[in-house]
Amino acid sequence: MCGIIGYAGHRPAVPVVMEGLRRLEYRGYDSAGAAFARQGALRIVRAKGKLAALEEKLAQEPVATATCAMGHTRWATHGIPAERNAHPHCSNDAAIALVHNGIIENYQEIKKELAEKGHVFHSETDTEALVNLIAERRKSEKDLLRAFAVALREVRGAYAVCLMHCEEPETIYAARLSCPLIFGVGAGEHFVASDIPAFLPYTRQVIFLEDGEIVRATATSYEILRLEDLRPIIHEPQTILWDMQAAQKGGYRHFMLKEIFEQPRVLADGLAGRLTAENALLPELDALPVPGKLHIVACGTSWHSGLWGRHLLEHWARIPAQVEIASEFRYRESLLLNRDDMVLVISQSGETADTLAALRRARKQGAMVLGLCNVVGSSIAREASAALYTQAGPEISVASTKAMCSQMLMLALMALYWSERKPADNIDQTSAAFAPEQRRLLIALLESLPALLDAHLPEMHENARGLSRKYADANNFFYLGRGHCFPLALEGALKLKELSYIHAEGYAAGEMKHGPIALIDTLFPTFALALDDALFPKVKSNIVEVQARQGKVIALTNEGLDLTVDDRWVIPSLPAPLSAFMALPALQLFSYEMADYLGKDVDQPRNLAKSVTVE
Ligand code: F6R
Repeated sequence: MCGIIGYAGHRPAVPVVMEGLRRLEYRGYDSAGAAFARQGALRIVRAKGKLAALEEKLAQEPVATATCAMGHTRWATHGIPAERNAHPHCSNDAAIALVHNGIIENYQEIKKELAEKGHVFHSETDTEALVNLIAERRKSEKDLLRAFAVALREVRGAYAVCLMHCEEPETIYAARLSCPLIFGVGAGEHFVASDIPAFLPYTRQVIFLEDGEIVRATATSYEILRLEDLRPIIHEPQTILWDMQAAQKGGYRHFMLKEIFEQPRVLADGLAGRLTAENALLPELDALPVPGKLHIVACGTSWHSGLWGRHLLEHWARIPAQVEIASEFRYRESLLLNRDDMVLVISQSGETADTLAALRRARKQGAMVLGLCNVVGSSIAREASAALYTQAGPEISVASTKAMCSQMLMLALMALYWSERKPADNIDQTSAAFAPEQRRLLIALLESLPALLDAHLPEMHENARGLSRKYADANNFFYLGRGHCFPLALEGALKLKELSYIHAEGYAAGEMKHGPIALIDTLFPTFALALDDALFPKVKSNIVEVQARQGKVIALTNEGLDLTVDDRWVIPSLPAPLSAFMALPALQLFSYEMADYLGKDVDQPRNLAKSVTVE
């Protein structure tokens, strides 16, 4: 997730901006840059890598007199990490510099229009299209504010932007739509930033800018206007009482909780520009053949995503898929016999040693390998035949949460995408899932996910907190599920054991009677996934079997289902398998609350590393 800071004030601006960028480092980045005005021109300095590289370059610059500047840390989502893709980007006439967080969905159309008018592009970014669009509109608009607004009205997607113009060297302009941007009100100085820590040492007075708002600020004045018609808006600044650490966590107690609550945004970002009325757009896959068979390989939570994705790839796209743990796959005599076999490796970090080794082995065998990663430019993304990115933003808490949500979303989009590319006779005619009206329904449901989850997360959190108090003395837990809920049961158990150190086992509910049920007694509770799907009656029978052995049961379920259990936790209904997007955060929140209540180190559980780069 990129970080933005803009400053207009009375201090030397570049050090303020650099310090702000350092306070945004926790968001993750792979390049950085800054802009300031000097002698009627804009100076832009950018560097790949850490802030030290940028600082080294800035040390050669006469920055001392600038009292207005802006900076950016870039976490690559599209173009590779490189200096030419780093921000700020500059318009062709060198008059405007822009830093940007987000995705401009229609940037290709904008680029085409501008190229016809003679604009030249030096990067692969959407930001360069936007800065040139503003410059183009400046030619016909009365002033920069209007040009900025007109250009932004033409843009589809999500953005937080900050802009400087060489003719107004003491002014910053900024705007937001679906990306965070906060305005800081100091004494004789103003700030905009992606997050409060960037300017917290200077002011605690903040305004949380809303979607569709523009701000223009100098050291001594500011105005906030509606993008739509440039009418002024009055916002009273709020006083922030958080300390620096709390501010980095966005006011949440832990990064894990923050990341769980980021999932609606992760879903919205993942869907942005990826859907038409009836299909998924995955241009990254256009050049690849439709796989005849998929071998999904991953570790831990990413493996659980793969297990869940298999249901969709087989059911929607009719592609046979097997899912394997990378540390097993790499040493097994795996048979990649056919030319159209494809290996799909899933890894948040893109650096997991076993997954990387599995990828290398598959490539050595001549297989086509597709990497599904979160970290752009990671080893797996680079070494795979092709890469798809989950765009979840950096995940800081060791336990993976939002990354799994983003992986599941991409797997759903892949299944949808390939479903249309399979020859008609390969599609199971008994399944009505892919009649045009069904596709439209499915897409409407996918589009509804971010808002639905956003609306229910606070209530889920409350329920999780209540249940954790009741079950915190358990030493063991079963997690049961069937069908697409079985991988969720595995994930629920993994989250509980890694965070709270309570022994937990995820099982396919139908397997219980083949042995594990012997463990059930009054002290061994079960967390059952009993959602409204075709397998509900079967799960219900398994729950009754547990209850017959005096086992206590929490059921994650939907409204209207006939179920008698100790604790019934109702989550919003969605048709399977999309209901997983509601169940996953509930499982995460339960484990989070258990661990926090038990006083465990939630963000850094013992014995664990975020990225397992050794075998
Ligand atoms: C669990 C967790 C791990 C990772 C696993 C794979 O919360 O985070 O199980 O999922 O180490 O990591 P990546 O996805 O980076 O390959």
